Amino acid sequence: MTKCYTLFIVLSGKTYSRPKHLKKFYLQTFGCQMNYSDSERLETVLESIALTKALTMEEADIVLLNTCSIKQHAEDRVHGFVHNAKERGKIVGLTGCMVRKSSTQYDEEKDPLLKQHKKIDLVFRIEDMAKVPDYLREFDTSITRPQHEFDTNDYFHIAPKLTEKFRAYVPIMTGCDKFCTYCVVPFTRGRERSRPFQEILDECEQHIARGAKEITLIGQNVNAYFLDDSQRKTLQRQTDFAALLAAVAKIPGLQRLRFTTPHPRHMGDDVLEVIAAHPNIARNIHLPVQSGASTVLMRMGREHRIERFKKTTAKARELMPDVTITTDIIVGFCGETEEEFQATMQLFDEEQFLMAYISKYSQRKGTFAGEKMLDDIPKAEKERRFELLNEKLKETARHENDRSMGQIEELLVEEVSENFIAKGKTHTGKTAHIQVGEKGRRFIGEIVPVRITETDTWIVKGELM
Ligand code: SAH
Ligand code: SF4
Ligand code: F3S
Repeated sequence: MTKCYTLFIVLSGKTYSRPKHLKKFYLQTFGCQMNYSDSERLETVLESIALTKALTMEEADIVLLNTCSIKQHAEDRVHGFVHNAKERGKIVGLTGCMVRKSSTQYDEEKDPLLKQHKKIDLVFRIEDMAKVPDYLREFDTSITRPQHEFDTNDYFHIAPKLTEKFRAYVPIMTGCDKFCTYCVVPFTRGRERSRPFQEILDECEQHIARGAKEITLIGQNVNAYFLDDSQRKTLQRQTDFAALLAAVAKIPGLQRLRFTTPHPRHMGDDVLEVIAAHPNIARNIHLPVQSGASTVLMRMGREHRIERFKKTTAKARELMPDVTITTDIIVGFCGETEEEFQATMQLFDEEQFLMAYISKYSQRKGTFAGEKMLDDIPKAEKERRFELLNEKLKETARHENDRSMGQIEELLVEEVSENFIAKGKTHTGKTAHIQVGEKGRRFIGEIVPVRITETDTWIVKGELM
């Protein structure tokens, strides 16, 4: 498509009155931590061309949405936002997972979004964020080049603009090669790509030097982290992810290390041993199982079976008795029988998950299940299973929280409310609410020891030591 076509697209949604100068942007992020992390880098790009961040959509000239496609509901929310922003006469740009790998900025054929939604003024793939200043010049010719040219080949080289000083999210890989039959991520994020070892260590060190107490290593499939041979030479028998985890945990000054999301298929003993050997790695492992029935896991194209999952959690508990396990579940996947659903209920009894993100299966176009399998569980039945599992989760979460009664736990204080309750997460991944005094705000961003004196379904309560 030609540049002329570009102008047509850009001008076609003529519902806005074009501002002379773009001054303020409003960036709304949807979806997982990867998107939030990408948005931090996008903010750096936007600020480099003297755009300032608007705190509300009202005051912005341009509204950018970093989108998620994982379920239909996630896409519906984005469409609602587009509608809202256009009603207020804003320029609207979309990036993130609704913009497919195959998209181009200008081509309606390749970008179904542009075809569907004539109101959208701009789409770009997130990995093209370095080119955003050029794209925006089509709306405001006065936008100048940023002082430092950004790397257009690798957007991870753009420094993130951190929203919080005390914790940082560091992407170690992106994309996914697993192609679980229900999942859109391999189509939105593309193939797996790992960042160089040293680059990750350097970024973590910079965060720690700036005051980060907690670092979370993120990726769609973190334990598929992969090094090329030249980097691997120095490592020993561990998998690449275990080696990376150990190296980051050893960085002086790092108080708490977390990672998400690992795939149960690659959660070997080496990773668990690294966690156990480093007290600063959180005693909470998020391990998405999706279903308690191996027959469902097979239809989902998950490469793990339930026995393997149970072995992994048993090993984790043997090495670290205080560890908590959290998970993701899909209920009502194609052909899920009552018996298969009951296997998931039973798994909750056995595993006592501290938390589970439960989703009702949502058919996604382009995925194997979306194209070739029957979405045959009625909506009401998905809802019933969702409710039942949520009730079960209340029991298991309470069970796990009760284990902290009388214990001393380390809490990273994220906020202090007006009535002086410090809130945050403990080292075992529990949400804690701790009464602090009038000067309690000074604890924000600090890791403090607390004694747990009361437990509830979703939280533990207590006092500062
Ligand atoms: N990489 C992670 C998951 C990433 S997607 C893993 O392998 O587990 C996050 C979660 O969204 C998934 O764990 C799954 O529970 C949910 N999810 C993904 N696709 C879905 C779909 N089509 N319908 C409902 N939930 C879905
Ligand atoms: Fe999706 Fe499966 Fe990849 Fe997770 S491992 S992102 S569920 S395809
Ligand atoms: Fe959504 Fe993309 Fe994350 S589809 S869950 S934002 S990888």
